[in-house]
Amino acid sequence: MRIRAAVLEEFGAPLVVQDVELDEPRAGEALVRLVACGVCHTDLYTASGADPSGYAPTVLGHEGAGVVERVGEGVTSLAPGDHVVTLFSPQCRECVHCRSDRTNLCLAIREQQNQGYLPDGTTRLSRDGDRIRHFMGTSTFAEYTVMPEIALAKITPEAPLEGACLFACGLSTGLGAAINTAQVATGSTCVVFGAGMVGLGAVIGCRLQGAERIVCVDLSEERLKLASAHGATDTLVGGDGTVETIVELTGGFGADYTFEATGNVAVMRQAVESARMGWGLCTVAGVAGRGETLDIVPRYLITGRRVAGSSFGGVKGRDGVPRLVERWLAGDIDVESFISHRITLDDVNRGFELMEEQDGIRSVIGFS
Ligand SMILES: NC(=O)c1ccc[n+]([C@@H]2O[C@H](COP(=O)([O-])OP(=O)(O)OC[C@H]3O[C@@H](n4cnc5c(N)ncnc54)[C@H](O)[C@@H]3O)[C@@H](O)[C@H]2O)c1
Ligand SMILES: [Zn+2]
Ligand SMILES: [Zn+2]
Repeated sequence: MRIRAAVLEEFGAPLVVQDVELDEPRAGEALVRLVACGVCHTDLYTASGADPSGYAPTVLGHEGAGVVERVGEGVTSLAPGDHVVTLFSPQCRECVHCRSDRTNLCLAIREQQNQGYLPDGTTRLSRDGDRIRHFMGTSTFAEYTVMPEIALAKITPEAPLEGACLFACGLSTGLGAAINTAQVATGSTCVVFGAGMVGLGAVIGCRLQGAERIVCVDLSEERLKLASAHGATDTLVGGDGTVETIVELTGGFGADYTFEATGNVAVMRQAVESARMGWGLCTVAGVAGRGETLDIVPRYLITGRRVAGSSFGGVKGRDGVPRLVERWLAGDIDVESFISHRITLDDVNRGFELMEEQDGIRSVIGFS
C-alpha cells in the first residue's frame, strides 16, 4: 500500500514527507494504523547525524500509538481493532533476558532492529523499488507501519491514543526508572535531575512509590513548576553548587535515590555525588554524547553508593506498558499536561524546532 511518511534522506537535512510503499505484514508481524506519535530527542539525534549507528534512508519515529489493521501468519496475541503502543524495546517472553525479572533487554531481534530490518532481515518499506529501513523497529512518523508482534503492547481501548503514545518512550522510561530500576521505597528522599519527559516521569514514579521528599533539579523555572505540579516537593535551579545544596537539604547525607535525566555527564556525576552514603542509589536514564564518559571518584562507591542504568525504565513493554496506562486512567498520572503542541505529519520538522527551542514537553503528531 502507498502511505505518507517522514523520511530521513540525508543527515543534517530536514525530513522529507512523501509517499512510500509499505508491504503487507509477514509471519509474526502486524500492520498498525498510527493515530498519534510523539516527537522525541532520539529522532532528532539520528536525523542530525550525531548518532554513530544511524542509517538513511529511513522512516523515523518511535513514540507511536495506533490500531492494528491486519496481522500476519502465526500472530496470536493481536487482532485487527486492538489498540497498541509501539515498543522500540520488545518483549519476546522467551529469551534468557525475558525469562529473568532482572532486565527488560529482550535479545530476540536486537541485531536486525539495530540495523533497521524487521526480524527476518528484510524491510517492508520501499520507494521506487529501493528499500527503506525501519528506524528503531518502529518507523512511526508514518500513516501506517509494520512491526513485529513482540514489539506491540496491547492497551485498553479506553485510553486516548494521543496520550498513550507518550508511554512508548520518555514517560515509561522515567516512571520505570523509579518503579522498576530503583524500586523507590516508601518514605524515602529522592532527587531527580532534569525535568523533561523522562525526569518528570521519574518525579511521578517516585510519588507513586510513596517517596516523602522529591527534589527536582532543572535549569528552567517553567519546567520546575511543572515538576511541582506532578509531585516534586522541592525544586532547585541546577548549577555548580547543586551537590552541596542537596547534601544540605538532606540533613548532611544526600538522598536515598537520585535519578539522572539530562544526558549530561557532568550532571550524572552530580547525581552520583548527591546519593546518600551507605545506601544511596543513583539511576542513570540520560543518554550521553558519543565517546563521553562518567567520572566517579571511587570513594563514593566504597562508602556505599551504587549506580544503576535504566533503559526504557526497565519496563518489559508488553506487560508493563498496559499496566502504566491503567494507572493513567485511574488518575495516578496526568498525561495530558505533557502534550504541548499538536501537529500534523507534514509539520514534523516544526516538531524538531520546538524541541530545540525547549518549547513545551512534547509535540504530538496526530494522523487523521
Ligand atoms: N534510558 C532510556 O531508555 C531513555 C529513553 C528516552 C530518553 N532518554 C534520554 O533521557 C534524557 C532526557 O530526555 P528528555 O526527553 O526528558 O529530554 P529533555 O531535553 O526534554 O529534558 C532534559 C532536561 O534537563 C535539563 N538540564 C539540562 N542541563 C541541566 C543541568 N546542568 N542541571 C539540571 N538540569 C539540566 C534541561 O533543562 C531539560 O529540562 C536524554 O538524554 C534522552 O536521550 C533515555
Ligand atoms: Zn524517545
Ligand atoms: Zn526476549
